[in-house]
Amino acid sequence: MRKITTIAGDGIGKEVMESGLAILKSLDLNFNFREGKAGYECFQKNGTTIPEETIKNAKNSQATLYGATTSTPNEKSPIIILRKELDVFANLRPVKSFEGVDSLFKNLDFLIVRENTEGLYSEIEIIENENIENNKNNSNTKAKAIKVITKEASERICAFAYRKAIEDNKKRVTCVHKANVLKKTDGIFKESFYKIANKYSKTNPQILANDYYVDATAMYLITKPAEFQVIVTSNLYGDILSDEGAGLVGGLGFSPSANIGDDNGLFEPVHGSAPEIAGQGIANPIAMILSVAMMLDFLKEKYYANQIRLAVENVLKKGKIKTPDLGGNSKTSDMTNAIVNELNNI
Ligand code: NAI
Ligand code: MG
Repeated sequence: MRKITTIAGDGIGKEVMESGLAILKSLDLNFNFREGKAGYECFQKNGTTIPEETIKNAKNSQATLYGATTSTPNEKSPIIILRKELDVFANLRPVKSFEGVDSLFKNLDFLIVRENTEGLYSEIEIIENENIENNKNNSNTKAKAIKVITKEASERICAFAYRKAIEDNKKRVTCVHKANVLKKTDGIFKESFYKIANKYSKTNPQILANDYYVDATAMYLITKPAEFQVIVTSNLYGDILSDEGAGLVGGLGFSPSANIGDDNGLFEPVHGSAPEIAGQGIANPIAMILSVAMMLDFLKEKYYANQIRLAVENVLKKGKIKTPDLGGNSKTSDMTNAIVNELNNI
């Protein structure tokens, strides 16, 4: 039986994980679920934000579902550790608007493909005390962060974006970078993109390739978001632009994500543990439920993945159940039950 590791984490991570599991258990599919610990509470109990056993289980599973974790001061983020350990190099973040959700734009449906293993997320930071004489407290005066960009990882992510564009019948792939300033690092990224684009243009001439600077992209996402179909970009730009994307379609409650590698998949809502609403049972579970659908796509259960997406669309269209972020006062469990009922009736 296929193994799935579930890491609920902290705060609303635990609440939306319950929803994700309720959806999965309502389907005609059998999985062997294994719980893994990670996050702030885990650190307080075990002295580590992610025990070796959790990493081992995730590696030995067909897929891992992750809620959200609260960051722990001075400790590495467990989700970043997991992404690296599982070598899930492609982070997919769909931006899709739903009927029935108040949002800045209607009819948006594009995908951000974010490089997940390097860039400014390499966590290489160096502190230098170069002004010790002027610095009586001897506190740190200068810090540097190193951005790592390799041709290999850049080509790998750009090829992945093209394969996704072909699979999803998209007509444009846009590379986002800042190669005018970061000539070497982002230069490699942009060059790798056009190398791959050129290769795919022979077999898939219907797909247009273009590139924009990241600052211009931040504006275009607001002035002409419908132009985008697939965006491929490096780690930090993808992080920032995908939150902007979430803002275009109703907020973080609607943003799922997939982290995909050659052998493994890790699926999580884009949002965090939301301490301000945690414990009240009012988090919107849809980002998690759509992440479950992405996990089922990965596990080649497309039929069920599409059923889940349809059930979510139908419940939102009906507009009876609304969690507070949607302007209503339904609970997480009301929304989850409505989606489970819809699944049973379509
Ligand atoms: P957050 O995503 O937890 O919350 C941002 C805002 O969106 C808050 O106003 C929150 O109430 C709202 N929100 C988020 N998810 C929601 C949902 N499902 N339904 C309704 N409203 C929702 O980000 P924030 O506040 O920056 O971080 C809180 C903690 O989460 C921090 O410790 C942060 O480090 C961590 N975090 C963890 C992530 C992960 O585990 N992958 C990702 C992002 C943040
Ligand atoms: Mg983020």
